Amino acid sequence: MLPVSDEYIEFIHSIKQKTGIDLSLYKEAQMKRRLTSLYEKQGFKTFMEFYQAMTKDKKVLNDFLDRMTINVSEFYRNGKRWEVLQQKILPSLMKNGRKLKVWSAACSTGEEPYSLAMVLSQFMSLSEISILATDLDANAIEKAKIGLYTERALAEVPIKIKQTHFTEQGAFYKVSDEVKRTVSFRQHNLLNDPFDKQFDLIVCRNVMIYFTDEAKDILYRKFSDALRPGGVFFVGSTEQIFNPSVYKLETADTFFYRKQV
Ligand SMILES: C[S@@+](CC[C@H](N)C(=O)[O-])C[C@H]1O[C@@H](n2cnc3c(N)ncnc32)[C@H](O)[C@@H]1O
Repeated sequence: MLPVSDEYIEFIHSIKQKTGIDLSLYKEAQMKRRLTSLYEKQGFKTFMEFYQAMTKDKKVLNDFLDRMTINVSEFYRNGKRWEVLQQKILPSLMKNGRKLKVWSAACSTGEEPYSLAMVLSQFMSLSEISILATDLDANAIEKAKIGLYTERALAEVPIKIKQTHFTEQGAFYKVSDEVKRTVSFRQHNLLNDPFDKQFDLIVCRNVMIYFTDEAKDILYRKFSDALRPGGVFFVGSTEQIFNPSVYKLETADTFFYRKQV
């Protein structure tokens, strides 16, 4: 049998060929832990045994994808940051009166792009809003399109927004069709696929923490290139960029970075 680390390298290689996902750009110890606990629970003993099973059984592959893409999300996650977005960042972005180009990158099951639509609707009608929302995980995107959530996902939603944009359906809350229509969902791998350009606002939160420093460095450059001058990059509340100027960014507020003009 191969030593464990060589075996993981072989696994990374096989997964990349099969799915296009490059696990070498995710923090190794964390990813190994997540995957080992999954395959052991399923009765496999090694990464390659796990991989062989994936090639024969779609369910094993889906379980793998489910485990490696951590889909936890909620509306208005870290509510104070969304207040800053509404009160400070968006008014500054809207000064020149153009339609805003907005991207929720790694949008998971839709809470983030729908929150963006709800915040933007404080400034314009929903019919004027269009948001691109992307994620690696096709299952998460399917859930996002359905737009049904448990109350827990709505804990940070201001009451007025909850009353305006959601309806109760049994134990769930459904996002209104008007909000849903503002978001275009697309499958997209941040580590592989090209980025669109000239965004006014890019929101990429709670995914960079899973990537290696090397991957983060590449991604900060790509995000910066994807922003128009003056555009803003909104990151997660543990994802501060320590040297923004390296990426032609400057701090606009805590966890918000503005592309230098
Ligand atoms: C913890 S969720 C974050 C959701 C949302 N942004 C938030 O902050 O609540 C992380 C998401 O990143 C996605 N993801 C992981 N690797 C990715 C990649 N290489 N490209 C695009 N999305 C990725 C996962 O599928 C998952 O939905």
